[in-house]
Amino acid sequence: MAKIIEGSGLGLRYSFAEEVLEKSDLPSWFEIAPENWMKRGGFFKRTLKKIRERVPIACHGLSLSIGSPDPLNREFLKELKEFLDSFEIEVYSEHLSFSSLGGEYLHDLFPLPFTEESVRRVAQKVRKVEEILERSLILENISYYLSLPGEMEEWEFINAVLEESGARLLLDVNNVYVNSLNHRYNPYEFIEKLDLSKTAYIHIAGHERFDRIIIDTHGAPVIDEVYRLLEFTLQRTGPVPVLLERDNNIPPYDELLEEVKRIEELCGVGK
Ligand SMILES: [Fe+2]
Repeated sequence: MAKIIEGSGLGLRYSFAEEVLEKSDLPSWFEIAPENWMKRGGFFKRTLKKIRERVPIACHGLSLSIGSPDPLNREFLKELKEFLDSFEIEVYSEHLSFSSLGGEYLHDLFPLPFTEESVRRVAQKVRKVEEILERSLILENISYYLSLPGEMEEWEFINAVLEESGARLLLDVNNVYVNSLNHRYNPYEFIEKLDLSKTAYIHIAGHERFDRIIIDTHGAPVIDEVYRLLEFTLQRTGPVPVLLERDNNIPPYDELLEEVKRIEELCGVGK
């Protein structure tokens, strides 16, 4: 993938999008959920256009449902392509999960059974999506709270999907950390087993602990242990773009920018 995005980026939220326009200090790039912006009216589109004139934007989708047995929603993909084209957005990632079944949208991301059948289904759909969007697809490892019976380990499943589909990896380091605690495995070993040569970019975020479970809320600052895991990962991937996700309890923009700068210092790791 050409270096369309590089360095550290930030998830763009409505709550500070307008403020961004008045700032001279921006992250190297922003990421948006296209579903949140595609149907918006003139004001939001104009704001996004102005931001896009200054820095690259990546799209991280929510509703593709790549692992669902349902057929792809071609109408949605057509609208998505128009949106990506009109904002000159080349980077598009989605979740390795399903979020619809029997034509119903479930408004959450569910894990796939780690099976050969899932690998084949996802790979077939990836190729179709890439054909329609005329862009390569990047898939993210999700956080999950129940596992379906499968035939392989999660890392084997991710590697098999990347191999069979040709998609690249959005490696969410916080998701690995959260899953490692909830499902009791070693996050460092997990990362070492992934085919990191296929990493397109990385996500990092905060999470919250509730009694015996840890939830990937994106509602708190990134903790030091996750920063350590990020550094460990970057030492193995070499320099790849890293994005800070913050979707809840959103602090003032300047505070987020401080966190982005801390990540920027790590982005050169492995150079
Ligand atoms: Fe993520």
